Amino acid sequence: SEFITLDPGYKNTGATKSAITYLDGENGILHYRGYPIEQLAEKCLFLEVAYLLIYGELPTKQELESFRAEIKEQTLIHEDMKNFFAGFPSQSHPMGQLSCLVGALSAFYPESLNPNATKEEDNKTMINLLAKMPTIVSWIHKKSIGHPIVYPKKDLNYVENFMNMLFSDVTAESSFDPAIISAMQKLLILHADHEQNCSTSTVRMVGSSNANLYASIASGINALWGPLHGGANQAVIEMLEAIKEDGGDADKYLAKAKDKNDPFRLMGFGHRVYKNFDPRAKIIKKACDDILEKLGIDDPVLDIAIRLEEAALNDQYFIDRKLYPNVDFYSGIIYRALNFKPEMFTVLFALGRLPGWIAQWKEMRENKEPIGRPRQVYTGETKRDVVDIEKR
Ligand code: CMC
Repeated sequence: SEFITLDPGYKNTGATKSAITYLDGENGILHYRGYPIEQLAEKCLFLEVAYLLIYGELPTKQELESFRAEIKEQTLIHEDMKNFFAGFPSQSHPMGQLSCLVGALSAFYPESLNPNATKEEDNKTMINLLAKMPTIVSWIHKKSIGHPIVYPKKDLNYVENFMNMLFSDVTAESSFDPAIISAMQKLLILHADHEQNCSTSTVRMVGSSNANLYASIASGINALWGPLHGGANQAVIEMLEAIKEDGGDADKYLAKAKDKNDPFRLMGFGHRVYKNFDPRAKIIKKACDDILEKLGIDDPVLDIAIRLEEAALNDQYFIDRKLYPNVDFYSGIIYRALNFKPEMFTVLFALGRLPGWIAQWKEMRENKEPIGRPRQVYTGETKRDVVDIEKR
């Protein structure tokens, strides 16, 4: 009989070859297409990084301009989608709304359904997604605070347009601080790809059946929602809040995290691959300090985060298991400073991860990978006969 290798959670099984992201967890190294994440976060715009991930090279000025122009043409969403969007209860979770809306794009842009589309047609769908996702995210944010939606503006660049759709009615457009725009650029860049994580593997798995790109990305969004993955950023802030409400005793929660009879985990700590530090967390922590200082915010939750980090880094349990703060530990504190509700945090992660998902889907298609179909080791009953219902 066949010999099946068992590796639950794919801890040591490569599912694909990929030339997009290089990750060395032992040494805390992350590269996109060979470029260190630190340099990309420092020197590039999110859109340049999106171009890099999807097409393999950093754009020239001219290439960036035409990429931007293509995207600007597609930022509006079919008006009929508003009817569909209006049906969501106002307090429904933004991630559920996001995955539905992204999946629904396939209904409004059905050309994406052709599995034999040309490269140009596929590219159009990719541009469409990059262009429409900020608009969708801003709709969801507006609904979460009960405000009318703001339409995209063609005279603004990607992140500026996004911030305008989110905040223009509360902040004069001209007063968008370059420091805030730059922090948002950094956050999006740091989330842009992370090789074969749970949501990216989902996008590839779903796409491997030749499902369309919108459906594949909507599936990735659902995978990202879980608190062990992207949902950790919402879970972190809720945990820090709860610790604050409970008197701010970090050690008490550290003890809970170590107690194997308590399901509580320190959210924002630990990573499947990083066993030294998460290079993204270092950059985010710095951006967090900068933003809070810039906005003059003294957030008590940040003090708790710092105390918790210090305590965990000096605790044998965390040292033995190589558990360090991950990207989500500090991102929520920045999002909070920008007045997003915690339920929106994972949606922002999804916007950042979009170019990575697209790049991975494109790579999978171009490499003509086979349909994903894991095997199993069967542990159920051996063959038995059905007994008539009266006799069971
Ligand atoms: N708090 C307390 N103990 C932990 C934690 C934690 N956050 N993370 C791992 N451990 C322990 C775990 O109990 C286990 O202990 P033992 O060996 O005694 O049984 C050991 O460390 C190894 O953990 P694991 O669950 O086998 O590791 P994994 O690679 O399957 O899980 C993880 C990785 C990220 C899901 C996990 O560390 C975790 O649940 N962290 C909290 C959630 C989180 O912050 N997720 C965001 C990850 S970064 C962004 C993203 O990728 O989306």
